[in-house]
Amino acid sequence: MTRPAKHSALVRLVCVAALFSMIILAIQSSLFTRSWNPELNISREDIRILSHFQSNLNQCVANRGLGLTAHIIDHCNVILKFPEGTNSTWYNAQFKVFEPLEYKYDVCEAILLWEQYRNMTTVLTREYLDSRPDGWFDYAAKRIAQLGADKCYNQTLCEEHLNLILPAKPPFHPRQFKRCAVVGNSGDLLKTQFGEEIDSHDAVIRDNEAPVNEKYAKHVGLKRDFRLVVRGAARNMIKILNGSDDEVLIIKSVIHRDFNTMIKKIRNPVYLFQGIVLRRGAKGTGMKSIELALSMCDIVDIYGFTVDPGYTEWTRYFSTPRKGHNPLQGRAYYQLLECLGVIRIHSPMRAKRNQDWSDVPSREMINSAHRAALRLKKKQAGKEAELGQFVNCKVWGKSGPYGTGPISGSADMTDTRKNSNYNRWEAMPSDSLREEARKHYTQMEGVSLYKMDGNKLDDLVCVKSEA
Ligand SMILES: *[C@@H]1O[C@H](CO)[C@@H](O)[C@H](O)[C@H]1NC(C)=O
Ligand SMILES: *[C@@H]1O[C@H](CO)[C@@H](O)[C@H](O)[C@H]1NC(C)=O
Ligand SMILES: *[C@@H]1O[C@H](CO)[C@@H](O)[C@H](O)[C@H]1NC(C)=O
Ligand SMILES: *[C@@H]1O[C@H](CO)[C@@H](O)[C@H](O)[C@H]1NC(C)=O
Ligand SMILES: *[C@@H]1O[C@H](CO)[C@@H](O)[C@H](O)[C@H]1NC(C)=O
Repeated sequence: MTRPAKHSALVRLVCVAALFSMIILAIQSSLFTRSWNPELNISREDIRILSHFQSNLNQCVANRGLGLTAHIIDHCNVILKFPEGTNSTWYNAQFKVFEPLEYKYDVCEAILLWEQYRNMTTVLTREYLDSRPDGWFDYAAKRIAQLGADKCYNQTLCEEHLNLILPAKPPFHPRQFKRCAVVGNSGDLLKTQFGEEIDSHDAVIRDNEAPVNEKYAKHVGLKRDFRLVVRGAARNMIKILNGSDDEVLIIKSVIHRDFNTMIKKIRNPVYLFQGIVLRRGAKGTGMKSIELALSMCDIVDIYGFTVDPGYTEWTRYFSTPRKGHNPLQGRAYYQLLECLGVIRIHSPMRAKRNQDWSDVPSREMINSAHRAALRLKKKQAGKEAELGQFVNCKVWGKSGPYGTGPISGSADMTDTRKNSNYNRWEAMPSDSLREEARKHYTQMEGVSLYKMDGNKLDDLVCVKSEA
């Protein structure tokens, strides 16, 4: 019974415990390395490409961000920061905080998402509802207000609601236009005279009730091609359209009786937007316009988005200010998109500088970053890096050639609508499309890509046209 013996027993116990925990640690870390640290196995070349892209982004934000700076975390992640002392005037009453001055983004995800839009169809079609497994029963029902049921138990009834706005095949095509202008509603528009510049675009996309007339012409232009509208706009439709027969209306929420009654009387083409997130509110209305534009246009110029420093209210060019927006978050995100080569921002504080886009990444640079981001994502998911254009097709469908399916419309339309050219986009022969659009169509082997729900990258519905 001596002290040393006791002591050595204690030492042995401590040693065993230490050894045991080391073994546990080793097992844990080996598991960790294999399943949680895929970075060990992505190619150095991809990291190099993405890091190069990040440093370009960093420089671009510094040059164009009006005080914003980008801080690189790794080859995919970046934080955009507003300068210290930025006056954050938007107060979130629910969480009792002012709007943050820092926003973190995954650039790899952002490239994958926004480049995908360039190949997407964003208008709801019959071929989509036919191809999607729950297309008619579930999805179509969600796009009809006042159906009186939560599913299409009677498909004929649902078709009656939708026929008026449901083309058989996509009326618009990827790369159909070279330059498009997306015009927001910001009161900032009155500080500049972008009217002529906006009208020089191949297509102009506007939002909801934004007026287009002589009074605002020098600020917002007169050209009208597309307009995204929400439920509730039906009431003001005649006023909004103001005699413009050609402007295409794209409803970004649901169809309902009032809307249908309206549509039967007007001459304008009307469709439903495909790819909205049905469960959330209509947040980020500007984003939908950009998605629509990207699905048809090579270059997307945005005007009338509130993206300059130092403003204090949410203003509209045609009405009194409203509350409840989060301006800094929007400004940071639009700046990110500009430096990813997705959009080009025009605003009062950017109006004076030259149209110099040399610090925005080139198409080649974006394409190679896109491929690297895709390989990285596939490896992280433990899949072989497969890079075909159909990697994200989850559901496949087939449809007849252009011109074989029914065009939108219904038997009880007024003569005004029957005798107008509301179906001109649907009946447009494909050989009258811009060469780039025809090339794209050939490259895609006649396949149209649609989102399943909202912004999910991997779940596409792909519909192949028979020749
Ligand atoms: C790395 O990936 C390749 C194929 O992508 C695979 O053959 C190899 O076993 C992976 N190495 C490790 C350490 O996981
Ligand atoms: C389905 O709806 C159509 C059109 O409203 C109607 O004519 C038909 O009777 C309905 N069928 C059933 C089984 O309810
Ligand atoms: C309709 O257009 C005309 C001609 O541009 C214009 O004078 C008038 O103000 C417009 N009305 C509305 C309500 O915008
Ligand atoms: C920040 O904006 C608010 C609201 O417009 C204004 O009252 C305040 O003076 C501004 N603060 C600074 C430091 O500019
Ligand atoms: C988009 O389409 C082009 C063909 O125009 C194709 O080369 C490219 O891989 C597609 N990209 C995506 C992200 O689907």
